[in-house]
Amino acid sequence: MIKNFAKKYKDYVIELRRDFHQHPEPSFQEFRTCKRIQEELLKMDIPFKIVAKTGVIATICGNKSGKTIVLRADMDALQVQECTGVDYSSLNKGVMHACAHDGHTSMLLGAARILKDIQQKIDGTVKLYFQPAEEIAQGALKMIEEEPLENVDGCFGIHLWSDLPIGTVSVEEGPRMASADIFKITINGKGGHGSLPHQTVDSVVVGSALVMNLQAIVSREISPLEAAVVTVGAFSSGTRFNVIANQAILDGTTRAFNPEVRNNFKHILERVLKGTCETYRAKGTLDYVYGTAPCINDSTCSKIATKSVETLLGKQGVIKMEKITGGEDFCYFLEKVPGVLAFVGARNPKKNADYPHHHEKFNIDEDSLEIGTALYAQYAIDFLNTSI
Ligand code: NI
Repeated sequence: MIKNFAKKYKDYVIELRRDFHQHPEPSFQEFRTCKRIQEELLKMDIPFKIVAKTGVIATICGNKSGKTIVLRADMDALQVQECTGVDYSSLNKGVMHACAHDGHTSMLLGAARILKDIQQKIDGTVKLYFQPAEEIAQGALKMIEEEPLENVDGCFGIHLWSDLPIGTVSVEEGPRMASADIFKITINGKGGHGSLPHQTVDSVVVGSALVMNLQAIVSREISPLEAAVVTVGAFSSGTRFNVIANQAILDGTTRAFNPEVRNNFKHILERVLKGTCETYRAKGTLDYVYGTAPCINDSTCSKIATKSVETLLGKQGVIKMEKITGGEDFCYFLEKVPGVLAFVGARNPKKNADYPHHHEKFNIDEDSLEIGTALYAQYAIDFLNTSI
């Protein structure tokens, strides 16, 4: 039934997606997008409120009392100059929907129409979260701060995915995307003449030793069965060949799928920093900033989602996908309530839809929009009808 509704609204969703695609807006500046969403919701007679500056939460109350499910779609674009050559290319110079969030927003509006059509048959409540600022990992937190997920039983998000072929969907349980945290280390030594190292504490030597010692964390301290990353991406120190630098600054990131591993990183980094600095008579400080947590799909919800995909696409529509070391701020929803982040295949080389996300030629096979629209609605119904 849902499948037929999605077919009916296919052109509507494609038209919306092209409109959003032509008018991309960066994080927390999604003013036009926010306005368009409101216009569509008004036409559908669905009540909504504005949160997190440019976010929208719409509510569809079913006939009977029951559970509450949150469906989430992100809305923001990226600072990328579009080079796809499509006739609905970005009109905003230097900004592009290069991660398919235009598709997500359109699909959720399509799903809103379906759910409104069958409102009387819904047992429970569906809340639609149109989320700003995913690309800077701040929108989800801000929405949840302003509208806590109280009395919410589950959440569901979709990412259209260019690595998966069109017609396939990944909803497996467990970690799907990694935590992404940021650190800055400042090493203070004692500068001096390059010819008289014994009078100095060389921060370049301390920093170099530290980079190497940090590499032993993943290789020697974390189980080889756990995937984890410690990367020092920038090392700034020194001014010229014969001056010993008194300071070094190291910038880096950690990634992990296991929350325990993630939470240990700060403590381990502190210990390695302290030990290394002591060895070389330097002083060091660590500034550790928590970014996004790992996205972990709940196992019961994953089973429900698998059934939803099978209902729409048959068993062959369900695909297994390797987890990804990138971050996604849907983690903040998943930390509060059980749910699933689904990856909906949008790849089709015949339609030039085979570039990676964030690429200037990124595009999707628009047939994926019908699948995503149906999946939002199907999952909502299936979740509300399952007792967990
Ligand atoms: Ni994205």
